[in-house]
Amino acid sequence: MSNDVKNIIVHRDGDIDLDPVLGRKIAVIGYGNQGRAQALNLKDSGLDVIIGLRLKSQTRADAESDGFPVYGIAETVATADIVTLLVPDEAIPAVFEEEVGPALKQDSQLLFAHGAAVQFGGLALEERYDVLLVAPMGPGRLLRELYLNGSGLNAKAAVYQDVTGKAWDVAFAYAKALGCGRLGVIKTTFEAEAVMDLFGEQAVLCGGIPALAEAAFNTLVEAGYPPALAYVECVREIKYIADLLFEYGLSGMRERISYTALYGGVTRGSRLIDERIKNRLAELLKEIRGGEFYAEFTDSGKTRAELLENLENERIEKARVEYESICSAQE
Ligand SMILES: NC(=O)c1ccc[n+]([C@@H]2O[C@H](COP(=O)([O-])OP(=O)(O)OC[C@H]3O[C@@H](n4cnc5c(N)ncnc54)[C@H](OP(=O)(O)O)[C@@H]3O)[C@@H](O)[C@H]2O)c1
Repeated sequence: MSNDVKNIIVHRDGDIDLDPVLGRKIAVIGYGNQGRAQALNLKDSGLDVIIGLRLKSQTRADAESDGFPVYGIAETVATADIVTLLVPDEAIPAVFEEEVGPALKQDSQLLFAHGAAVQFGGLALEERYDVLLVAPMGPGRLLRELYLNGSGLNAKAAVYQDVTGKAWDVAFAYAKALGCGRLGVIKTTFEAEAVMDLFGEQAVLCGGIPALAEAAFNTLVEAGYPPALAYVECVREIKYIADLLFEYGLSGMRERISYTALYGGVTRGSRLIDERIKNRLAELLKEIRGGEFYAEFTDSGKTRAELLENLENERIEKARVEYESICSAQE
């Protein structure tokens, strides 16, 4: 397994052959966010797809009404040439150990859409099947929507174990069938995908940005400013900046904001994100790379409700409702 991800290699539809997946039975395990979108795209690309779900599944009716044959998980895996494990990350170790691993056929391919369970989960992988990653870079809803309008999402592809010698060809062909070759399939490793995905979520997208927005909101409210307006300044307007970042990049965003915003942002941003924050970011990265985060996450057993119970959401939520009622009253 190579860890060299410095040279980015991208494959597009024109360089990818679909043959390694054509005529082979593909089992999609799980029919949620990724499972449904992937199964439908694969089917529309002409592939033979079956769905594996647990006995008391809540998504069985959706899969059946979309026209898929649905079976139990182990039963589905035992008949498939390619198996994609698309259950939530916290469920992967148990589902793999109990139902998927023992049922996998010799020389089949086992696919993941995120590298963490393999990289950090200590799965007992046997050397009789390939282990691959095809990770679309966005939610299932978008994967499906873009496929239908002739475009696609990027995907990352990696190979952990190549028993058949065909693992890379299958990974790229599978990504092409998802529609990801239209934009580009990026070669990476399980380690890089897992670490960078978790770090981005924790440091920026789902950890850093919400925590900073909430702390800034509280600072204004505690200084006596109206919560509804503090909500607009510190939370709601994130979208305008995010849109500029998405469209034009960091420097393009800076070119398009006012001189006041640029001056304040550049001189104060670097004061906020100082050496102490950089040290904390390095700590987060170390915990992810060392597997401590993954062990803590899979052992925590906490429900979503338990995770949220100590967060002070009420004040900011009230401010959002108040802001929306002010706006709708004016319409
Ligand atoms: N969500 C994203 O935007 C995204 C993007 C890229 C990659 N990924 C990766 O894709 C994978 C799947 O994520 P997801 O968001 O699609 O998951 P998800 O929507 O939460 O998955 C739900 C599906 O998993 C089944 N399931 C849940 N717990 C199970 C268990 N204990 N045993 C068996 N089946 C179980 C559910 O079946 P029931 O009907 O039985 O409840 C349902 O069909 C993950 O590795 C994730 O990191 C996700």
